[in-house]
Amino acid sequence: MPTVRPGQPAQVTVELENRPYSVFVGEGLLPRCGELVRGVAAIRSRKAAVVTDSNVAPLYAETVLASLREAGVEATLVTVPAGEASKSMEETTRVCREMLRAGLDRKSFAVALGGGVVGDLAGFAAAIFQRGIPCVQIPTTVVSQVDSSVGGKTGVNTPEGKNLLGAFHQPVLVLADTGTLATLPDREWNEGFAEIIKHAAIRDASLLDLAEDPAASRERLAELVTRNVAIKAAVVEEDERETSGVRALLNFGHTIGHGIEAAGGYGRFLHGEAISLGLVAAVRLSCELAGLAQEEGDRLVAALKAYGLPTRLPEDVPVDAILETMRRDKKFEEGQIRFVLLERLGSAFVSEAVTPERLEAAARELRG
Ligand code: NAD
Ligand code: GLY
Repeated sequence: MPTVRPGQPAQVTVELENRPYSVFVGEGLLPRCGELVRGVAAIRSRKAAVVTDSNVAPLYAETVLASLREAGVEATLVTVPAGEASKSMEETTRVCREMLRAGLDRKSFAVALGGGVVGDLAGFAAAIFQRGIPCVQIPTTVVSQVDSSVGGKTGVNTPEGKNLLGAFHQPVLVLADTGTLATLPDREWNEGFAEIIKHAAIRDASLLDLAEDPAASRERLAELVTRNVAIKAAVVEEDERETSGVRALLNFGHTIGHGIEAAGGYGRFLHGEAISLGLVAAVRLSCELAGLAQEEGDRLVAALKAYGLPTRLPEDVPVDAILETMRRDKKFEEGQIRFVLLERLGSAFVSEAVTPERLEAAARELRG
């Protein structure tokens, strides 16, 4: 576990063969991004695009651009509309074309400045731009700092479902400036805790002692983010491409959660809110099929409630639409459902024992 010293960034290294990269966590990293980027061996050009969204641009783009300029990097700003709807092929094309018009070439690099939407979209654009350019992730939401900026999953949605087009493209550097979380609206702050509670559930029961206490989470923010990054890094190191089943455990709560996100038209629920509902269903199935103790399940649900996250599905969200999207989910292999269950807090496994009928019932049971 990396040490977190007040005033100093913590550093977690994602140890991938031939492509290790650093994740720095702490306050005040944005104004230092130019200097930190210049220290990355994989970055060999002084030309870059900073991709951000319409909410983050007025808050942080100038600090990042100024720091890059100071380090001799000429960067162009590409801004997409805020929100999940920007995770689309159309927006990816637009971003790539702006990069081309700005004169970026295959030696240039991209910087993703924003939440998980910008990280997934800009990471994907970097993966396909001139067959792949380096990407620096500068996550500015809880979701993106504790989860999406690390691990190299990039991609976009289609009307058929979440993240169905994409690529593995590991970042070359991640700068999680916890100071940027101060401007997050409460709803966006809270949604991040669905992924944190997920990490605790599948991998580190002791993390729940901190994560279930909203006041302690704010006070010990850098420690919280660093512990989550360390969990994510360890999982990615073990199973970068989700082939052995270890990385698949990160999908706990996501099968039904992604269905709910799509059924809500990608606008009604924030990602973490949909995942919260997916976690409640997965916890219930774990108690029923995997021997998870009821009190441990109740503790997880109480932790979600402590952040005001939804634990019951509103009546007007059609369950049929959730089921339709789930059938197209990547976690269904040749019609076989690979569903993550918990046997106890901190220990999860992939099960093939969840039938389509049981899954449908679990989605319906979220109503009451
Ligand atoms: P988001 O990127 O839409 O950010 C949420 C909102 O906060 C947006 O309106 C954004 O403009 C705003 N915002 C961002 N930073 C801000 C700041 N510092 N101050 C004020 N406002 C700010 O959503 P998200 O929750 O960060 O990410 C969700 C996305 O991440 C989903 O698309 C999900 O699928 C994806 N995700 C990907 C992975 C992965 O491994 N690649 C993992 C988890 C989630
Ligand atoms: N967020 C799931 C993964 O990175 O594998």
